[in-house]
Amino acid sequence: MHVHRFERLWFGASLVLIVAFIGTIIYGAVGPGIAMVDDSGGTVEPSVIADGNYEQTDNFREPGVYDTEDGVDVYVVARQYLFQPGTSEPIRVPAGEEISFHVTSPDVTHGFNLAGTNVNTMVIPGQVAEFSVTFEETGEHGIVCHEYCGSGHHTMEGKVVVVE
Ligand code: CUA
Repeated sequence: MHVHRFERLWFGASLVLIVAFIGTIIYGAVGPGIAMVDDSGGTVEPSVIADGNYEQTDNFREPGVYDTEDGVDVYVVARQYLFQPGTSEPIRVPAGEEISFHVTSPDVTHGFNLAGTNVNTMVIPGQVAEFSVTFEETGEHGIVCHEYCGSGHHTMEGKVVVVE
């Protein structure tokens, strides 16, 4: 049977695409994947966070700023529709030190985006999002919830103040 040269060419090209698609699916299933959420902080029971029984959790403390030997730990609860701390009082951290954030939610999925930095994570109930950042300069960074979380979503914001 005679197959036209262009037909063969297109047949070959479509085969390459099919293989590439299957490869993409397999890579997505078994490959290293793309981290959408940093859940290295482990899990917590959302109801424990909602009730404020932080002593019952291994990997989440009462919200606030804690000095450690290595730097500073910051525990934040993101809830409808505030950051605690962050909204009613700013999170105060020193410049030039490693700040380790631990953020979780007792209710729905929120976002935690620090304006002017590359800090940007989802906050999922039951999981502790962890990330570290060192602020080289003093100043203020707004905290923005960038996941739709309900009627007050657009009002959910806070502030980080970097001091000497
Ligand atoms: Cu919290 Cu949007």
